[in-house]
Amino acid sequence: MKSSLKRLGRVLRQPLNARFAFKRLKEYHAKSHGLEEVVNWAMNFGGNGLMRVKTLQIPSEITRLAKSVQALNPKIILEIGTASGGTCLIWSNLASERVITCDLKEMTFQQPLFTQFPPPGSNCKVTLLSGDSHSPDFKSRVAKELDGQKVDFLFIDGDHTERGVTADYHDYKEFVRPGGLIAFHDIVENQPLPTNQVFHLWKRLKPLAEVEEFVNDPNQKGFGIGILRVAEQGAPTLPA
Ligand SMILES: C[S@@+](CC[C@H](N)C(=O)[O-])C[C@H]1O[C@@H](n2cnc3c(N)ncnc32)[C@H](O)[C@@H]1O
Repeated sequence: MKSSLKRLGRVLRQPLNARFAFKRLKEYHAKSHGLEEVVNWAMNFGGNGLMRVKTLQIPSEITRLAKSVQALNPKIILEIGTASGGTCLIWSNLASERVITCDLKEMTFQQPLFTQFPPPGSNCKVTLLSGDSHSPDFKSRVAKELDGQKVDFLFIDGDHTERGVTADYHDYKEFVRPGGLIAFHDIVENQPLPTNQVFHLWKRLKPLAEVEEFVNDPNQKGFGIGILRVAEQGAPTLPA
């Protein structure tokens, strides 16, 4: 009851929130930005309700990840876990052809804003897919969108349970090209929520592939990004 009232309130305030968000987008598009600036925009875009754009990342970590992704000259980026679109804003600046971003949440209101994230002159198309990444039907939708093309970069930042993140890795790694990257968010062991269990998967994957870690402070609680480079023969499969 309380959450449906909250959603109703957000829907009623939507036109006002949308006006502010598009004003911010216009400011963002008014000039071209270096990667640090784009990250800064993703952290501080602002806004309210369903039109609030933000990312829950540590700037130094997400900047290092963005630089690694940029070095791939990515055409296509796939993200699981759109949330408030902050990382989607960053990927939209880097991908030359496509960003496909997925979330459990329904994103009808966000669609007109997020699909306009790519900078002026970019040919990048942003596609928002709502649904459960663990459902076979949803994976088929992603495959249909890709139509046989491989992605350069897969960002796994959805279900953070050990079982969920492991399923996302196994289900979506096949879409990443050799030499491409798969990144996981929240890899540090000390986490604020017991359901943040990405470190279990990360510990098992580390010995099996070329990996790198971006952790701002070894004593931090939460966050941390791990990247894995996909080998010629594909990303490793974990023993059962
Ligand atoms: C930590 S947030 C993503 C943050 C975003 N990448 C950023 O940094 O700007 C995680 C998101 O994953 C979504 N999510 C959780 N489980 C999911 C699932 N099974 N399928 C798709 N999305 C899921 C949640 O709804 C949530 O919006």
